[in-house]
Amino acid sequence: MKLAVFGAGYVGLSFAACMAEAGHAVLCADTDAPRIAGLRAGRMPLHEPGLGALVAQETAAGRLRFTDDAGEAARHGDILFIVVNAPADAAGAVDLEAVFEVARAVGRHRGRDGLLVCKSTLPAGTADRVEAVVRDALARRGATHRIAVAVNPEFLREGSAVHDSRAPDRIVVGSSDAEAIALLAQLYRPFLRDPARQWLVMDRRSAELAKYAANAMLATRISFMNEMARVAEQAGADIESVRRAIGADARIGPAFLQAGAGYGGSCLAKDLRALRHVGEGAALRLLPAVAAVNEAQKSRLFELVAGHFGATLAGRTLAVWGLAFKPDTDDMRDAPSLVLIERLLAAGARLRLHDPAAMPNARALLGEREGIAWCDAPEAALDGADALVLVTEWAAYRRPDFTRMAVLLSARAVFDGRNVYDSAEVEAAGIACYGIGRGRSVRRV
Ligand SMILES: NC(=O)c1ccc[n+]([C@@H]2O[C@H](COP(=O)([O-])OP(=O)(O)OC[C@H]3O[C@@H](n4cnc5c(N)ncnc54)[C@H](O)[C@@H]3O)[C@@H](O)[C@H]2O)c1
Repeated sequence: MKLAVFGAGYVGLSFAACMAEAGHAVLCADTDAPRIAGLRAGRMPLHEPGLGALVAQETAAGRLRFTDDAGEAARHGDILFIVVNAPADAAGAVDLEAVFEVARAVGRHRGRDGLLVCKSTLPAGTADRVEAVVRDALARRGATHRIAVAVNPEFLREGSAVHDSRAPDRIVVGSSDAEAIALLAQLYRPFLRDPARQWLVMDRRSAELAKYAANAMLATRISFMNEMARVAEQAGADIESVRRAIGADARIGPAFLQAGAGYGGSCLAKDLRALRHVGEGAALRLLPAVAAVNEAQKSRLFELVAGHFGATLAGRTLAVWGLAFKPDTDDMRDAPSLVLIERLLAAGARLRLHDPAAMPNARALLGEREGIAWCDAPEAALDGADALVLVTEWAAYRRPDFTRMAVLLSARAVFDGRNVYDSAEVEAAGIACYGIGRGRSVRRV
């Protein structure tokens, strides 16, 4: 099949490359001309494991091409995917302008019937509006082509986007158009091992809402555990033991139960805000609380540092490991590290920052700031620091040499924002170890 993918971001690029790998002729369009020029020249605009090699392979094979010409993409595909960003403002209002821009381009340039698929995360009812925008653009030039609009939300995870695109755990399609459903079934069938369970067709609004509901559930589980972590601290319990105990319950399951420094990324906070906006008439109570717990949690690491060293951190130097909102990505959107960094700097601390992939994006966001040193290796960040704060649990940080760390850290303290270290092992090296929700099981050294 010929596919057009509008949006060459984390999702669009991963989806486009995996569809090319499956044998389709994919044209990926983006309004960001330098990004397209870079992709044509073999430069990746983002960090996603395995994606660079896959894009190179599919580009070389001629199955994956790039354009900044929306008209060319609108004419190309049998199926056209909208995978552009749709940000939500502080009140949750979703900016649909980029989505409508694609819809207008399709209406203006499409020379035949086609199927337009909304893959971006969009409020319930957006597909109806997209359809109206396309119809209006077609009518303006007197065209009568039939452009069906379907919904197909994306559930891939940044950091494993290639894996998730190759082996999605389910495909949700929102459409009542038999032809559209059949075409998408043909596209996705090779990716599904158990279609009876994984292929889920529903009306468009339910498909749109399903994506928001999934993210709201994930955010809720994290905030629930972060709230439990606070209880554990008061109760002298260890949240890691509690997590294992409840995760073994088949009704609960083990995923997304890690207490930590709070969730970040481009999706959970944005989609929760959007859902609150959409659901205003439904008087939401739980989701505002989920968001509030998370905002508070982003300050938890700072509170632990301040609790250890005292309110003023002037004269203190902290090493910070991990800046991206999660491992295996360079995405800094809504990253908890940003809150920690601002609070530490405001308290007078100096910082030595390291991240395996996100430092260029972090640097662009934070700018060249007094008090920040950018370090090119984890150990370089420890050199000259009093203590270490682990924010993002990259594999490179998981098994440090604590004996060596005890030599490098002059105040010998580790603040483990992801509960990845064995506190007994850290303490045996003579380093105080704080986790999230680990109560009295963590001794001060
Ligand atoms: N990032 C994730 O983990 C994830 C997972 C599932 C779903 N989603 C959803 O997928 C969508 C895209 O997310 P993302 O993280 O890939 O965003 P992104 O910001 O990384 O990429 C979006 C791309 O769209 C481009 N764009 C903007 N307007 C355009 C237009 N009119 N035509 C063509 N390209 C245009 C931008 O230049 C950018 O390169 C969002 O709705 C998001 O909520 C994201």
